[in-house]
Amino acid sequence: MSLDRVDGWVKVKGTAPYSAEYAFENLVHAVLITSTIAKGFISNMNSKDAEAVPGVLAVISHLNSPGVPGYGEAKQPAERANMGTAFRVFFDNLIYFNGQPVAMVVAESWEQANYAASLVKIEYEIEKHRTDFEANMQHAAIAQGVLKNKNSPFQDYVRGNPAAIHDAKVKIEATYTIPTQHHQPMEPHAIIAVWEGADKLTIYDKNQGVKSAQGNLAQAFKLPRENVKVNAQFIGGAFGSGIRVWPHTVAAVLAAKKLNRPVKLVLGRELMFTSVGYRPYTVQKVAIGADENGVLSAIAHEGIGQTSAYEEHLERTILASRAMYACPNVSTKYKLLSLDVNTPTWMRGPGDATGMFALESALDELAYALEMDPLDMRLRNYAESDPERNLPWSAKGLRECYELGAEKFGWKNHTLEPRSMQKDGMFVGYGVASSLYGFHRHLSKAKAIMLASGSVVVQSATMDIGPGTGTAMTSIAAKVLGISPKKIRFDLGDSSLPDAPGQNGSSTIPSVGSAVHMACEALKKKLAELAAAVPGLGSKDIPYQDILKYHNLPQVEVTEESKSGPERDQYSMYSFGCHFVEVHVNPVTGEVRVKRVVTCADVGKIINYKTARSQSIGGVVGGIGMALMEASVMDHRYGRYINNDFANYHIPVHTDIPQIDVIYVDKPDTLVNPIGSKGLGEIAIVGVAAAVANAVFHATGKRIRELPITVEKLV
Ligand code: MOS
Repeated sequence: MSLDRVDGWVKVKGTAPYSAEYAFENLVHAVLITSTIAKGFISNMNSKDAEAVPGVLAVISHLNSPGVPGYGEAKQPAERANMGTAFRVFFDNLIYFNGQPVAMVVAESWEQANYAASLVKIEYEIEKHRTDFEANMQHAAIAQGVLKNKNSPFQDYVRGNPAAIHDAKVKIEATYTIPTQHHQPMEPHAIIAVWEGADKLTIYDKNQGVKSAQGNLAQAFKLPRENVKVNAQFIGGAFGSGIRVWPHTVAAVLAAKKLNRPVKLVLGRELMFTSVGYRPYTVQKVAIGADENGVLSAIAHEGIGQTSAYEEHLERTILASRAMYACPNVSTKYKLLSLDVNTPTWMRGPGDATGMFALESALDELAYALEMDPLDMRLRNYAESDPERNLPWSAKGLRECYELGAEKFGWKNHTLEPRSMQKDGMFVGYGVASSLYGFHRHLSKAKAIMLASGSVVVQSATMDIGPGTGTAMTSIAAKVLGISPKKIRFDLGDSSLPDAPGQNGSSTIPSVGSAVHMACEALKKKLAELAAAVPGLGSKDIPYQDILKYHNLPQVEVTEESKSGPERDQYSMYSFGCHFVEVHVNPVTGEVRVKRVVTCADVGKIINYKTARSQSIGGVVGGIGMALMEASVMDHRYGRYINNDFANYHIPVHTDIPQIDVIYVDKPDTLVNPIGSKGLGEIAIVGVAAAVANAVFHATGKRIRELPITVEKLV
């Protein structure tokens, strides 16, 4: 099936309401004031002049915050995880990072609030900060949370005999670096917070999980869950920035509480750099060895990721190296480096996009050292079962991905030697990289309602941050019920709907898609039973509305719950893929142009081809940005980002993006769930940066191990 987006029209017509666009009488506007130092404390704050500005209603800070009841009791940062973040907004005068919210001005208009914010005088006691990753790497350590948890996947890992690397015929040892990169959704984060009395809270908030936000805020404000309503129906991209409840959200809720009026807060692009996480700066060391036939003998993968001083953020950086290839001797190590910065968070393909840049670059280096085709190298080490968990894969169509992709791309048309291909005065390079991402199926519920009119409403508190969730769910429902998608409406993004996970970890289709499938199956069954009771007609071919009419029912509804079965422990479940990239590099200027991409994925059954394809293209675009452009640059004298706008933080635009062909194996993985479909969002980006870097090496003979691959690194 390949439906157009069910919400396409409301989006392009501008009638779809985003978080900042709900209208309320009495709505007031908030502007955040953020710290200008990276570490220390506020010694004095004077808001008199600001308060005197016409229209200003309050200047809220640690001095007069109504307080978050949950903050006081949860003494340890880790205990505050269930309130969204460890950081406590307006709690005390301590400064943990430059850009930290320290006060908030609320006024009748945004202009008044913004002007008044400029009049708040804050004095700081400055302490020496550490923000420079490279200069502080010696302070990296295993996370406290990992030390305390024997079962943490981030414990040091050893399989076989890692010392085997010393006997390897060929080996590569190299360090790979990715800089801090920020999610750059078109829609900045925004919230409208509305209190109804002292104990009922509604927020219209850009986030990726209405149910988790509801739970976090209920914990923080000590409210019964059902007293907190979270609405996030339309979201203009997020890429992970909306997985948590961030301090600015709580700040707006506090302001609304203090003033007892609806408060709107919109983060400007600059604040997006310090308010909603980022892909952490990460340095990885990979040692990889093989015999003369290219058969891997050992992989050692160590990663150090950046985190804040007040919270540990862990990601899958080194994990892919355990499962990706058949290799008997593997070791991994993962450390964190605490710096005086805000906490990073998951960003598309979190951990794996970072880790696979290193692994897939190192494997490519090894292939060239052996004078072996990089694709052959990957095929030679194909893991027929999961070498980490010693389990069969539930399904793995990666071989088909390599084959279909290589065919479409014309991989065999290239000569292996670096710098051996030229076109129109440019060096031409071909690169390939693999991709994987773990499978996640969380508990999800869906309700399916057949109305007397014959129309169907399906509901679940799932999300759509952009991939087209409603469209995919409509496809699933239409297929099961055998009715036109036009007769189906899918409701999401509202915490009062049936329980569902947030949209993260590529889990939506596998989890919620299964629940929708099951709910529609159950609805069909219930209707068939009702039809069987219609005398003289039997159960065949009665229009659904006639069944309801006969029984004089206004509607028939069912709710079903979906969760992982025992197969989860018997099989290893992953999505797999690969990317083929052609780059042209200008030999004089070092400019890299991506000319073609063929991206392939085995994610089981494709639910809705059109939206799936868009998601794959989006992932490749993100990967090209990661490879060639994106880096958040900090001035370490102040611990402050200096390229915090779209003029200076470069992301790909149309002219940077070539033809992207998307290929799916499109065979159901019958072991993962009833729809046979696995996650697609993350593997779409995982490996892309390595494929680009590998193509750049093939074009130029220069191996760039530090992203992004900008011109000065190539000339
Ligand atoms: Mo994704 S980083 O789980 O939004």
